[in-house]
Amino acid sequence: MDYQEKKKSVANMFSSESEIRFYKEQARYGLFPQEKILFNKYLAVRGTVLDIGCGAGREAIALAKQGHKVTAIDVSDKMITESKKLAAKTEMEIEFMTGDIELLPLRPNSFDYAVMLAQMIEHIPSRKNRIGLLKKIHTCLKPEGVLIFTTHNRYRNFLFWGYWHMTWLSDFLKGTKSELGDTLLAKTNPGVKQNKQKMFFHVYSIKEALADIEASSFQLIDVKSDKELVADKNTVIKNVLHYFYICSKNSRTK
Ligand SMILES: C[S@@+](CC[C@H](N)C(=O)[O-])C[C@H]1O[C@@H](n2cnc3c(N)ncnc32)[C@H](O)[C@@H]1O
Repeated sequence: MDYQEKKKSVANMFSSESEIRFYKEQARYGLFPQEKILFNKYLAVRGTVLDIGCGAGREAIALAKQGHKVTAIDVSDKMITESKKLAAKTEMEIEFMTGDIELLPLRPNSFDYAVMLAQMIEHIPSRKNRIGLLKKIHTCLKPEGVLIFTTHNRYRNFLFWGYWHMTWLSDFLKGTKSELGDTLLAKTNPGVKQNKQKMFFHVYSIKEALADIEASSFQLIDVKSDKELVADKNTVIKNVLHYFYICSKNSRTK
């Protein structure tokens, strides 16, 4: 797959019936406990929030209910349709934009916060473009702005280290251009029906995420795993570790 095909595979996956159904259900659930903890700490003062990859409106509606002025973006018009329905039902006023975050124009210095949850950044092919996206978010944040985003942990144990290196080597031998952590998935989550067409996905390592944060001029405030944030270990899927990165546009204290 070339770059455009990878992007198309992501947009197609999130327009499929099974994924829409899954994210509609997620939107009904609302914020995860980990997000509640971090938003209470870092998004305590009401402000303007850019929600990148809003899906069916899960965090956008929750943040609007908390009094934030939310702009929510998604590449899937079907996801935006679901978000709009939920916003109307809950009487929340949100500005929705349909399109690819890499291409949509955003005004510099215009948001207090940006959130990019549920590993959204891992849908962007190529490291150069992921750093480019972080730089774009950096530009559209106000000087005191904060970004919270999440990734997987590619090397959560030694077996995974072996798996990812073997995958990369196999791609290399086949002449397929890939980066360590690149893969193709037939669905986004356990329990969701598989799609015939697979979607591009890049699984981050923590070291790589920290390097990308630095390369995009963000200042790291904190990194927290799901498990560090929630005392009740049942609320996180066993052995699937996600990390939250809290970053500020400019230097500040924790
Ligand atoms: C994993 S879902 C998360 C949805 C929602 N944030 C949540 O947590 O329930 C990722 C979302 O990002 C969207 N997305 C993927 N690539 C995108 C891009 N380049 N620009 C805008 N949205 C994108 C997908 O359509 C999908 O709805």
